[in-house]
Amino acid sequence: MGIAVTPLKRPIHIGKRLAKNRFVIQPMECGDANLRGGFSEDSLRRYEKLLHGGAGMVVMESVTLQLESRARKTQLLLDVNDPDNRDQWERFVSQKRMHAPDTLLVVQLNHSGELSDESFSRRVCVKPLPGFGGTLIDADYIEQTIASYVEASHFLAQIGVDGVDLKFCHGYLGSQLLRPFNDRCWKYGGSFENRARFAYELCEKVRRAIPDEKFLIGAKVSVYDEMPGGQGHAGPNSLIIDPEESIRLCKGLEARGASFFIESLGNAGLGWQLMCPDHSCPGIVSQHMTAAKLLRQALRPETTVICGGLSLLGKGGALPGMAAEKSSLFALSNSAIEQGDFDMIALGRQSFADPALPAKYAAGKEQDIHWCTCCNRCGTLLGRQAHAGCAVYDPYYRTVYHDLTTK
Ligand SMILES: Cc1cc2nc3c(=O)[nH]c(=O)nc-3n(C[C@H](O)[C@H](O)[C@H](O)COP(=O)(O)O)c2cc1C
Repeated sequence: MGIAVTPLKRPIHIGKRLAKNRFVIQPMECGDANLRGGFSEDSLRRYEKLLHGGAGMVVMESVTLQLESRARKTQLLLDVNDPDNRDQWERFVSQKRMHAPDTLLVVQLNHSGELSDESFSRRVCVKPLPGFGGTLIDADYIEQTIASYVEASHFLAQIGVDGVDLKFCHGYLGSQLLRPFNDRCWKYGGSFENRARFAYELCEKVRRAIPDEKFLIGAKVSVYDEMPGGQGHAGPNSLIIDPEESIRLCKGLEARGASFFIESLGNAGLGWQLMCPDHSCPGIVSQHMTAAKLLRQALRPETTVICGGLSLLGKGGALPGMAAEKSSLFALSNSAIEQGDFDMIALGRQSFADPALPAKYAAGKEQDIHWCTCCNRCGTLLGRQAHAGCAVYDPYYRTVYHDLTTK
């Protein structure tokens, strides 16, 4: 009899593709592109480490498709109409193919909407949210946005990227349209059918433009957030959490060709704890696992459900009332996958602390892993428009953090 392989090490089909293990690298924007949105040395170095790190799938950070509306001054841009930008993407992907041919590479596409920073960008909104506001957009704007996502996806498929992650989380445009707060009377607001229209049209049109199912379509979804009337809430002004619509959304996307979902919670514009649990709120990890399980129970067995929000677990001991050896990232993830609660885990802040975690786990070198402390200095760097990374283990980002916070 062979030795049983632990669940995290088992390969898994994602749609028509195969991931070599159950580790996904979360999309993590680091605001480290150059001022024209192109790849910088910092961003190239970061992806080189991640692609060598042994994960089954790497999801590239929130990429903007227009310089006009974005949250970071140096956000990575994909502009299919700019030959120089296209060239940079082609070079990046062909080099990646050479160095990490067995890691799936997916790109997260995003529009920041009301979270665009007005100091260098244009803030637009679906319905003005107190404290944010912005220019109201119309159906033509949404249709053009869908067209730009489809064009970008088509280009990515042509240059050898394995799929796209459509962002419906964290309070960005995809999330702004879906939330019940979007009760404005227009083609993309009011009823659930109208609020989900952007997501559904987008998914359908990307699939139609790239019928080859080897090109993956997936979505990262905030199953609920902290905003009254936000995603996963019972009504436009409701504080009651009701994930029913988020589940319905994912089933609708699945029917239109999506083959993976990354579970998330929260709204980056309103607060970070629900999205990124830290030591002051360890119970939020169980909310992420529960949300992933809800998706797993509702979706087809062949659809891949990926749980996020787990970096806090680390080597164990973060959850009060639970022995360290039972509450580590590996112990809890292995048992949850074995029990069928979700299929894969996505690492966010932990991937900054140690991009090589999956490879170290595969090689039995767990003692060499640098565990994320969830200090959220990476988030501080990003929020202050600096290049983000791990300011605990990486001397480069330690210096960036030190310089920024002692000024
Ligand atoms: C610095 C930073 C950048 C992030 N960038 C993105 C992003 O580009 N897209 C996204 O969907 N989520 C982003 N997130 C959220 C993470 O992908 C992830 O959902 C969250 O950190 C929880 O996972 P963790 O506990 O493994 O860190 C970011 C988080 C941080 C701290």
